[in-house]
Amino acid sequence: MTAPPFPLALLAGPHRTGTELKHLADTLGIPLIEEPEGAVLLLRFMPEGLELAKPGDPLLPGSLRAEFTARDFRRRLLHPGRELLVQAARVRGGGQPLVVDATAGLGRDGFLLAAAGYRVRMIEANPVVAALLADGLARARCIAGLAAIAARIDLIVGDAREQLPALVELPEVVYLDPMFPERTKSALVRQELRLLQLLDQKNCDDADLLRVALAVAAKKVVVKRPLKAPPLAAVPPGSTRRGKAVRFDVYAGKGKKEVSG
Ligand SMILES: C[S@@+](CC[C@H](N)C(=O)[O-])C[C@H]1O[C@@H](n2cnc3c(N)ncnc32)[C@H](O)[C@@H]1O
Repeated sequence: MTAPPFPLALLAGPHRTGTELKHLADTLGIPLIEEPEGAVLLLRFMPEGLELAKPGDPLLPGSLRAEFTARDFRRRLLHPGRELLVQAARVRGGGQPLVVDATAGLGRDGFLLAAAGYRVRMIEANPVVAALLADGLARARCIAGLAAIAARIDLIVGDAREQLPALVELPEVVYLDPMFPERTKSALVRQELRLLQLLDQKNCDDADLLRVALAVAAKKVVVKRPLKAPPLAAVPPGSTRRGKAVRFDVYAGKGKKEVSG
């Protein structure tokens, strides 16, 4: 009888030391394998970075990485003020406000916020997604033009409902994007979504997440929604910014930020 395939494994390879590979496999609680045959889903370090793939599936020939270098994305980074998200998250006052991107995913929205000058604390509950994101951020820190943006970002692995109340510095803004869109026209995004869905991402209690976000945000909570979806947890926002495919609902935060000095 042959052993059942591993649902997820890390493939050993030449791009990282054995110690680094073992550390990541242990952190994620997955096997480190020498040959790809045994796994349904595979994490592997390629020259481009850490990626998730489903080998042998003709419907999913691509792979998934946290990537901030695509030409279109870099163009958006040049003009962050044009982004609806950045406009929705804008707060009065100087300095570098802290935004917590509490459902970070592969980090693109949070990266745009950091490009606009915010300090961004990302929180991601899924440890595999968090590993992809950590690798993408580490690579961005070494790329001219992205390094200064990535330097304003840090990442916490955990459930935002527990991590938000434990933050030492309360944020001005909490950003939530808890749901993957059900329909999308982009083939690339569809591929990414299918791979992410294979990670068995659990939807958390939206009402709980919004309640905790409102309690810690000193100024605003911004929630990304599909254009026609009802508001998160059926709580009506104070205002909304609408784009072509998504909208950003904005709520007044109830957190009290301590003013020093
Ligand atoms: C739609 S994705 C976010 C995409 C992200 N805005 C981007 O630009 O790449 C949602 C992410 O939220 C994460 N998530 C859902 N509930 C969470 C929670 N309670 N705490 C932390 N992360 C959570 C999921 O694991 C998933 O990776």
